[in-house]
Amino acid sequence: MFASLRAPALVTVLGFLACTVQAIPKITRTGRYLYDDSGTRFYIKGIAYQEQGDVVASTDNPFGEPSNFIDPLSLGDACKRDLPFLQQLGVNVIRVYSVNSTLNHDDCMNAFSQAGIYTIIDLALPLNGSIDRLSPSWGTNLLNQYIHTIDAFSKYDNVLAFNIGNEVVIQTTTSKSKGSSALVGYAAINGASNWREPLANYLTCDPSNGNSDSSAIDLYGLNDYEWCGDSTFQSSYARTTAAFAQYNVVAYFSEFGCISSPPRLWTESVALFSSDMNTVWSGGIAFSYFPAASAAGQFGMVTISQDTKTVTTSDDFDRLKTQYGLVSFINSPSQSSVAAAAYPSCPASTDAFLASSTLPPTPNEAACNCLENALSCQFTPATNNYTEVVGQLLNVGCSLLGQAGASCTDIGGNGSTGVYGRISDCDPTIKLSYVMSQYYEANGKNPQSCSFAGNGTVNPSSVSAANAAASSCISNPGAVFTPTAVPTTNGGATGKATATGKTGSANAAFGRVDAVLLSMSIMAIFSVIGGVWTLA
Ligand SMILES: *[C@@H]1O[C@H](CO)[C@@H](O)[C@H](O)[C@H]1NC(C)=O
Ligand SMILES: *[C@@H]1O[C@H](CO)[C@@H](O)[C@H](O)[C@H]1NC(C)=O
Ligand SMILES: *[C@@H]1O[C@H](CO)[C@@H](O)[C@H](O)[C@H]1NC(C)=O
Ligand SMILES: *[C@@H]1O[C@H](CO)[C@@H](O)[C@H](O)[C@H]1NC(C)=O
Ligand SMILES: *[C@@H]1O[C@H](CO)[C@@H](O)[C@H](O)[C@H]1NC(C)=O
Repeated sequence: MFASLRAPALVTVLGFLACTVQAIPKITRTGRYLYDDSGTRFYIKGIAYQEQGDVVASTDNPFGEPSNFIDPLSLGDACKRDLPFLQQLGVNVIRVYSVNSTLNHDDCMNAFSQAGIYTIIDLALPLNGSIDRLSPSWGTNLLNQYIHTIDAFSKYDNVLAFNIGNEVVIQTTTSKSKGSSALVGYAAINGASNWREPLANYLTCDPSNGNSDSSAIDLYGLNDYEWCGDSTFQSSYARTTAAFAQYNVVAYFSEFGCISSPPRLWTESVALFSSDMNTVWSGGIAFSYFPAASAAGQFGMVTISQDTKTVTTSDDFDRLKTQYGLVSFINSPSQSSVAAAAYPSCPASTDAFLASSTLPPTPNEAACNCLENALSCQFTPATNNYTEVVGQLLNVGCSLLGQAGASCTDIGGNGSTGVYGRISDCDPTIKLSYVMSQYYEANGKNPQSCSFAGNGTVNPSSVSAANAAASSCISNPGAVFTPTAVPTTNGGATGKATATGKTGSANAAFGRVDAVLLSMSIMAIFSVIGGVWTLA
């Protein structure tokens, strides 16, 4: 290459060409497969890339979820430290579970892009950044967070997909309406096929029966740990592969690697990309680059020194490197031979899969804020750390309301019946103010009944009762959902975004999201939601 750069006139031309050639190809979906812009089939040969946050063991935390997270794409030096190791493994995708949209991600994203590495970015965060499985709901607070993340990352050319994380769904129109062409994915935990398959179909069905993709995901990820030891396709993957034989969009293993009987040999890597599987699956994500502890054991390919400067690889790293090195991508079927995906009508609820296709309300932040301002008794937290307190106080408030002959149906929702409270989409703090206000009003506005041990404050400017305030705010036709401006230092964020004029599709989007979440919560025994490892 350098030898050909002797003539100065050529340098500019070749320099320009080199830049052009260097740009990471755009990956798009045709039917159930991924292709790069030259029409070559694209497979995900990936690894999970996220340092584990601190896990505080307690009975309140049965899934061992971390209480904080480290955004791996905000640490430029760490990305550059790790890049040579990712390249040794030969990965072309990393999956990142939690990011902080306010931080700068340029160094990492650019370094990975130049190395030909794409990212799958989960939108959920641990704790209050994901769905509370005890009182799941899809509200403005989460929608804002998801949109901020999409905003922060849509300027990069190597975002393969915004992933819904583990059991949290967002929908194509959201990402498309944000000017992002990244694919939209969902990662599901494996489980009994009587709900795994209805869920997979639910995520790619068309509720309007019009064969439209407006509310379908592009990329279905299955977290699959079935293969252990030196197994075979027939004994480990044949059944799951057969179950997805007719699937309509891209399917891949959003996590894989044996978790039950070490050592992990990683021989499944070759099977995953072989002709036994390549017409059904588009690769997978090995779990995990960084050390990750879970109830199932300790995993990870490398350890990082205390001063964060040095990477030490493990035998697992060597074995995965060897097996990934044996993989070759089968470039078929050809893009031109692949039919566009069909979107079947949505599956009916079953005893195992309780998802109604009746949609909950579109999150409407203006209406929720209008309500908060109008309420007679407002939640006024003593510290910023109020997530847990909100949950406790909602329990207390709803039980008090129950004793007073009222109820919390306005703030609740039920994805199996398709019945949603009229403020079920509001931020939990606003729901709490609403409950507090109803209790306060039911007690003749006795100031003591707004105290909630110092968590509530009487709003002297409130003129209407909670019920009336809800009716008036929620029915206000002028209220549109407007996410708050992105508080970011990254250039390129688009600031305010609205879903105005898209109410119909937004409704479809969030409705199915919520219904899935609510139904997943019923199956919570299997579910680990959002921004966390699924090795339970
Ligand atoms: C994101 O980063 C900012 C700046 O460091 C920090 O204040 C904020 O708490 C972080 N957000 C989350 C959810 O960790
Ligand atoms: C999480 O909690 C913080 C305060 O602790 C709040 O500012 C933020 O809006 C919450 N995020 C979500 C998605 O609910
Ligand atoms: C937040 O509050 C909970 C209990 O309410 C406590 O366990 C936790 O340590 C607190 N976190 C911080 C960062 O203060
Ligand atoms: C939803 O409604 C169904 C049917 O009435 C009921 O069995 C179920 O317990 C409800 N779920 C929740 C979370 O309230
Ligand atoms: C608020 O409510 C929580 C949970 O019930 C309680 O622990 C706390 O003492 C209350 N008061 C204040 C000022 O936080």
